[in-house]
Amino acid sequence: MATPTTALPSGDELPMVGVGTWNLDDETVGDSVRAGLDAGYGHVDTAEGYHNEAAIGDALADYEREDVFLTSKVLPKHLGYESVIASCEASLDRLGTDYLDLYLVHWPNPAISLRETLNAMATLVDRGMVRNVGVSNFSAYQLSAAHHISDVPIAVNQIEYHPWNTQHDVVEYCRETNTVVEAAAPLGRTEVFEDPTIQAIADEYDRSPAQVILKWAVENDVVVLPKSTSPDHVRANADLFGWDLDPEDHQRIDDIGRHQPVYDHPARDWSSDTYGISQ
Ligand SMILES: NC(=O)c1ccc[n+]([C@@H]2O[C@H](COP(=O)([O-])OP(=O)(O)OC[C@H]3O[C@@H](n4cnc5c(N)ncnc54)[C@H](OP(=O)(O)O)[C@@H]3O)[C@@H](O)[C@H]2O)c1
Repeated sequence: MATPTTALPSGDELPMVGVGTWNLDDETVGDSVRAGLDAGYGHVDTAEGYHNEAAIGDALADYEREDVFLTSKVLPKHLGYESVIASCEASLDRLGTDYLDLYLVHWPNPAISLRETLNAMATLVDRGMVRNVGVSNFSAYQLSAAHHISDVPIAVNQIEYHPWNTQHDVVEYCRETNTVVEAAAPLGRTEVFEDPTIQAIADEYDRSPAQVILKWAVENDVVVLPKSTSPDHVRANADLFGWDLDPEDHQRIDDIGRHQPVYDHPARDWSSDTYGISQ
């Protein structure tokens, strides 16, 4: 069954569930993408920093391009104007396609002008290489600047989002500005499975903790990008529609109120090879 979608400012429809692909090797990522697309996800999330775009391209060759919503991301060290263009060209080449449905700034880079980055994004849209533009790991403050200076709509902010890290201020600002929220690490990299409220609700509904967490997120109008090495888990993570959480149970998860990020910690390693920034 195809997953429901949410509309972007361009009018394109973004499927509410996407295949997460971070940290998956070439063989595993191909199996995950196929399992997800066969289960109706219709949406794949990758990045130049994941070093798996070529393997994803191989898997996508078996599907109609227009049936897949394909996202990639440009690394923070590549946010200068020419580097954004070059990174996008290289991603398209590896993915075996001539356009991305969504291209995201993977992380903000305070050392490079955001105006320059977003001008490059607008050029990519003009050239038909990118259909929609977004950002990732942006605070409300950073997102407000992006909206202010961009010539193209900032359609999406992909942020760490799960019951232990709801980032209420960022999500509220996204709502006010018609920016779709995508949940990175929607399962909190399994840490949230231990939460007693999640476990109790999973038992009551005879669902897995993963399904309860993902269901809660999509009920909050957040697009989820679960990642799994197991095709069975990939399929189970799409079984989110045709059943609901009772409003009181949904509220119990909203009320967990714990602040425990799994990756978006305030102090960054600015020097790391992949996610660092240029000097
Ligand atoms: N923009 C960013 O900076 C950013 C940052 C982080 C993540 N992301 C995106 O978000 C995606 C997901 O995040 P993530 O990969 O960090 O972690 P995640 O999806 O929150 O958690 C992945 C973990 O959950 C387990 N899992 C998945 N489904 C399960 C199920 N049904 N039952 C039991 N365990 C299950 C997986 O184990 P098994 O393999 O055993 O199933 C894996 O250990 C990434 O792949 C990436 O696309 C983006």
